[in-house]
Amino acid sequence: MRQCLSKSWTSRLRRYVKQILFMVYFSLLVFAFFNYRSHCVETMPNMLIEMARLDNSDEGRCKLDFEKLGDAEVDIFGEPSEQSIIEANPEVQKGGKWSPSDCRSWQRVAIIIPYRDRLHHLHILLRRLHPMLQTQKIDYRIFLIEQAGTDKFNRGKLMNVGYLEAFHQGDFDCLVFQDVDLLPEDDRNLYLCDGYARHLASAIDEMRYHVMYYNYAGGVIAMNKQNFRRINGYANSYWGWGNEDDDFSARIQESGLLLTRPPPHIGRFKMVRHAKETRSEHGNEMFLGWKARWPHDGLNSLNYSVVHVREKPLYTQILVDIGHPPSSMDVYMTDHSKDVSLWWFLKYYFP
Ligand code: UDP
Ligand code: BGC
Ligand code: MN
Repeated sequence: MRQCLSKSWTSRLRRYVKQILFMVYFSLLVFAFFNYRSHCVETMPNMLIEMARLDNSDEGRCKLDFEKLGDAEVDIFGEPSEQSIIEANPEVQKGGKWSPSDCRSWQRVAIIIPYRDRLHHLHILLRRLHPMLQTQKIDYRIFLIEQAGTDKFNRGKLMNVGYLEAFHQGDFDCLVFQDVDLLPEDDRNLYLCDGYARHLASAIDEMRYHVMYYNYAGGVIAMNKQNFRRINGYANSYWGWGNEDDDFSARIQESGLLLTRPPPHIGRFKMVRHAKETRSEHGNEMFLGWKARWPHDGLNSLNYSVVHVREKPLYTQILVDIGHPPSSMDVYMTDHSKDVSLWWFLKYYFP
């Protein structure tokens, strides 16, 4: 009798264990299904040079010894003076340009910084960026795209202005769109483009050194001249904080471009501390309708006027009047024919 009882008890236990194992397996499958992002790929920075080598002759091209590059000292505190940065970077030319003198750089790179009223951040960034880009032997020029006036900030529009204005000043193969408060921590994180969209800020300290969600494409992103034009740049219609980088990432994904990233131990960035803005009231709602706006909201519909261009010792400052936001965002939300579903939206932000 006792034997019989213990037998039924063990068979019941076995059944429970089986059920639990099945549940775990099923949950993992569901988790993997939602986390599957085939357009996001991790690639090592040295691949950028290796791939370029396949297309171009590497005669006279700059060689980089990756073994010698690594973690750098990054200071997000202190208030470096402009003069001290100028003195520490004697080879930088007026306008914030530099190119290696002993080899040919792989790409000519324009660094585009959307900006208003963050001088303290700018100095901390320039103190880090100039030496790093020289270590990476990149032919570069830094552009500060400054929004005039006091209207809501429009990061996307400034990026588009930066793209067009950079080409008025010179020719570039690659553009790196860089927030003013983000400092790359690793010299191996090459500020170069691949044939896709390269999200360089793959691990920000504020986000616990993780990408907050797979589609995140904010902070610092590098894209070549052709690809940026091909996706019509950023949307111009996001005034205030939030969603413009998500709209840009959706354009990348929908165009069939990969979003490549350095592995997190290389894509590390520190953000200079500052007060957080709150999301613009209509940001999410606007984003639901991103697809209908895409063909006519971007580089092809950009209007602005340049107030002045000044070649400063460490950067080229381009002050621009980008107009005013409309009195109601409703003017941007007239066509709902291509609105994405709530399901798409939730999945988009799923980590
Ligand atoms: N920015 C600026 N002035 C502003 C607001 C934004 O220069 O008043 C630029 C700056 O380059 C900044 C970027 O836009 O790094 C993104 O804004 P913010 O840092 O506020 O956003 P976060 O990424 O920290 O949420
Ligand atoms: C916003 C983005 C922002 C990101 C990280 C998202 O919810 O829409 O614009 O870059 O959060 O802060
Ligand atoms: Mn910030």
